[in-house]
Amino acid sequence: MLEVKNIYKTFNPGTINEKIALNGLSLKLNEGDFVTVIGGNGAGKSTLLNAVAGVWPVDEGQIVIDGTDVTKLSEHKRAAYLGRVFQDPMTGTAATMGIEENLALARRRGTKRGLRKGITQQEREEYKELLKVLGLGLENRLTSKVGLLSGGQRQALTLLMATLKKPKLLLLDEHTAALDPKTASKVLEITDMIVNRDHLTTLMITHNMKDAIAHGNRLIMLMDGKVILDIQGEEKKKLTVKNLLDKFEQASGEEFSNDAAILG
Ligand SMILES: Nc1ncnc2c1ncn2[C@@H]1O[C@H](COP(=O)(O)OP(=O)(O)OP(=O)(O)O)[C@@H](O)[C@H]1O
Ligand SMILES: [Mg+2]
Repeated sequence: MLEVKNIYKTFNPGTINEKIALNGLSLKLNEGDFVTVIGGNGAGKSTLLNAVAGVWPVDEGQIVIDGTDVTKLSEHKRAAYLGRVFQDPMTGTAATMGIEENLALARRRGTKRGLRKGITQQEREEYKELLKVLGLGLENRLTSKVGLLSGGQRQALTLLMATLKKPKLLLLDEHTAALDPKTASKVLEITDMIVNRDHLTTLMITHNMKDAIAHGNRLIMLMDGKVILDIQGEEKKKLTVKNLLDKFEQASGEEFSNDAAILG
């Protein structure tokens, strides 16, 4: 479903701020893979997702989504394949618009149809059903302004919007990191539910090792712009934090510096 072949990205080349963020990274996801992505600060996690989304062109290498080479496609064109959710609950939804209007915008994404003609009753019923599944009571607040929602409610809605059109690929960049632990786990639960229900191929970045172990069918660790660990199947199911630290040390040749950020 996604093939990333030997991609390189250097920021500010030729300056004192030069930074090799992706260093020959390759990764192949099968349809329905739910991959958690971990790695220390600056390992290249967000850069990988940005490269896939086409935020800027990569320097070298190739990106193929669902059999289509998108390496040279603009971010706008690639958006048709993707759903994305970021860390900040303020992004991804329009605060001054109602819940149903936000969902309607997501529904109309990529079409010429705007909101001018309004939202049909049938659509409204569909949105209610979708919202009900979140278990947050939002189905009774269809016209509430999104700006009035809590961070967790907003992230749950963003998730719903990002997946409304069943994207080929769902990209989650620490989408629960700004939430309190209880809300974060609720949003992760909703993530699991949607990804499993719709069999979405997913890349989910997290700073929390336990979450990375508990979710998805596959876990990758990045370091210095490359994949240094790729754990799946039974091995992933049996994985513990201790295990993961040992594997990290073997793969990197470094002792795990007690990086609180990655332990979560
Ligand atoms: N737009 C940019 N301009 C310049 N440097 C950048 C840019 N984006 C990322 N970098 C640099 O590339 C490296 C990788 O950054 P990236 O954001 O991918 O890390 P990350 O693994 O997501 O880390 P974190 O856990 O802190 O989010 C870092 O050194 C970062 O400073
Ligand atoms: Mg990041």
